[in-house]
Amino acid sequence: MPMSKDEKKDEKKRPAAEAEATSPPERGVRTVKTGEAPTGTKASHGVTKTMEESEARQRLKSDVEQEVARPGVIKMPSFEPAQKGPPPPPPSVKWTPTAPSPTVTVPSPVGPAPVAPSAPAPAPPVVKPSGDGKLQLPEWYVPDPKDPFPISPDDVQIDFYTIQEPYAYVLITYNNRDKETTYRVIEPSLTEEERKILKFVEHTMVDLLDADPIELEKQSQKDFLSAKFDEILYDYAIVLGDDEQKEAASKKRLLYYVFRDFIGEGRIDVVTRDDLIEDISCDGAHQPVFLYHRKYESIKSTLKFADDAELDSFVIRMAQRAGKHISIAEPILDATLRDGSRIQATLSREVSAHGSTFTIRKFRSEPFTPPDLVRFGTMSAEILAYWWIAIQHGASAIYAGGTASGKTTGLNAILLFIPPQMKIVSIEDTRELSLPHPNWIAGITRSGFGPRDKDGRQMGEIDMFQLLRNALRQRPEYIIVGEVRGKEAYNLFQAMATGHAAYGTMHADSVDAVIHRLESDPINIPRSLLEALDVVSIQIQTRVGGKRVRRTKQLSEIVGLDPHTREILTNEVFRWQPKDDSFRFSGVSYVLERIQVEKGMTPQQMKQEVENRVEIIKYMIKHQVRNYKDVARLVTSYYKDPATTMERVQKDQPWT
Ligand SMILES: Nc1ncnc2c1ncn2[C@@H]1O[C@H](COP(=O)(O)OP(=O)(O)OP(=O)(O)O)[C@@H](O)[C@H]1O
Ligand SMILES: [Mg+2]
Repeated sequence: MPMSKDEKKDEKKRPAAEAEATSPPERGVRTVKTGEAPTGTKASHGVTKTMEESEARQRLKSDVEQEVARPGVIKMPSFEPAQKGPPPPPPSVKWTPTAPSPTVTVPSPVGPAPVAPSAPAPAPPVVKPSGDGKLQLPEWYVPDPKDPFPISPDDVQIDFYTIQEPYAYVLITYNNRDKETTYRVIEPSLTEEERKILKFVEHTMVDLLDADPIELEKQSQKDFLSAKFDEILYDYAIVLGDDEQKEAASKKRLLYYVFRDFIGEGRIDVVTRDDLIEDISCDGAHQPVFLYHRKYESIKSTLKFADDAELDSFVIRMAQRAGKHISIAEPILDATLRDGSRIQATLSREVSAHGSTFTIRKFRSEPFTPPDLVRFGTMSAEILAYWWIAIQHGASAIYAGGTASGKTTGLNAILLFIPPQMKIVSIEDTRELSLPHPNWIAGITRSGFGPRDKDGRQMGEIDMFQLLRNALRQRPEYIIVGEVRGKEAYNLFQAMATGHAAYGTMHADSVDAVIHRLESDPINIPRSLLEALDVVSIQIQTRVGGKRVRRTKQLSEIVGLDPHTREILTNEVFRWQPKDDSFRFSGVSYVLERIQVEKGMTPQQMKQEVENRVEIIKYMIKHQVRNYKDVARLVTSYYKDPATTMERVQKDQPWT
């Protein structure tokens, strides 16, 4: 259960102990050294005032009273080093090594340097390497004389896989001369005659698509299109072949394209169905469409739009299908496609030099789950166990990182740990989160039109700020903001300070950068509110053994504010070690410690909790509990009946 409002409010208000630090800089962040109980921290706040204080609390309280401002803190540069005087000397109160530290130490099998499994690529189900580099093309494949990227004798095959048998395949070639990898979409080859017929049929079909909704319901979309196709051939006396076999084969090929263009995503349909593709980007009609492939990274494809007009109409159509609008007057689109993918597009040359553009972030129908992240080596089972306990008990967090570093994916995965009965409200610009929780309101902002009012809002627009205000009235226990970037962050932090568990992603590549962004325009969170945040995780995209991977680079806690220096005290709990691709545990977590104190647990019990969860995560990996609903069921089972769940896990019984 998240902390009660009063508990958390209380915690933030508690005055900090005095220390003898001198002439401090006004701003800055510093990391608390392992074992230090910093002044004014949430750790000291964690001592609650209930009558029946447990033994652990008593001990903690006396520890905290003794250890006012321990020296030996690691200094981090303040944000404006040039304007600052010399760094403040360490506080003069001595740290007593004999005094037990009020920190929870995660047990050793869990703690130091748990080595991440070497990151296997996300299982590519359809890839079958061709072996000798010889091209493995379908029998029917005929090179298109107009292909802008024809296969050359220097191309060798490095991969070939099926998207839709027997019509759509992907061939990945490497050109030995240009040293370039190309993603080739292999679709049915059409003769010149068939090409003309297809163009005519599709054109005519648009006029004929006077679909009666009742009629459409009765038939599947494919049957409907197929019937229309036959109707057009008959009406216009079009003959597809001189014998029945040829005619049938030709019809199948043509229908593939009709379905692709009317039901699928047209020219980029194959790519949108390829699970190994993360991003699709088109920078203009005269350039190839570029893809981000899980195995081959940024890769040029053989897809290309013939001219500006074709690309413009493609972008307009995508907008319409997403239920949005794009026009010369409003040439920027941010929308969710029918399959959940996110699209950003611009129309024509209004706001981009090379004409219309679009970028699609593919949506995974099966979102990555916590055990997936451990399998990929993005984080260790210990980091995940930490998240599990923190999220269950309502610790707030910002999941930061660079573009496409996996922030949304990572946050979505760890949010599976929210206890199932909790009320969740999420707010996003485009719908990306998917959670199995039944009590979840998924809010999406709405764009407006026309001139902006004094608040910068257009007519009909509903922005994050309004949605969040509304959300707070709905008394959620957990609040998620897709991306924290504007004035809505203030409400989010207020929500944190009043005892809600709040989460968001943010574009920033270090803890300092997160704090700096939160404190600067346009977010402007006052430092006293910033304290309400508990955890900041930094995710990066990097290379391990030449392969591009995603890693939790650092996970830090916001411990509190130094009352004298007003510095933000942070405690790094985990850090990724590039040299051996492992995660180092610092030995101290103030968040776990606070939870331990609040729940009246002994350090031993907290240690056991961490160990149990590490064990469950490893069990999930071993037994391939991967689907997010299954993971959620196991997590729920642990919440409801930890003893039985652990017994099953320890006996290594399969989870069905
Ligand atoms: N840990 C991971 N391992 C492998 N692939 C991942 C991982 N996390 C995310 N991805 C993939 O990376 C791509 C980008 O992920 P995601 O949308 O979560 O990034 P983001 O940081 O939120 O991006 P943006 O900055 O655009 O919001 C997706 O295709 C996703 O499937
Ligand atoms: Mg994102």
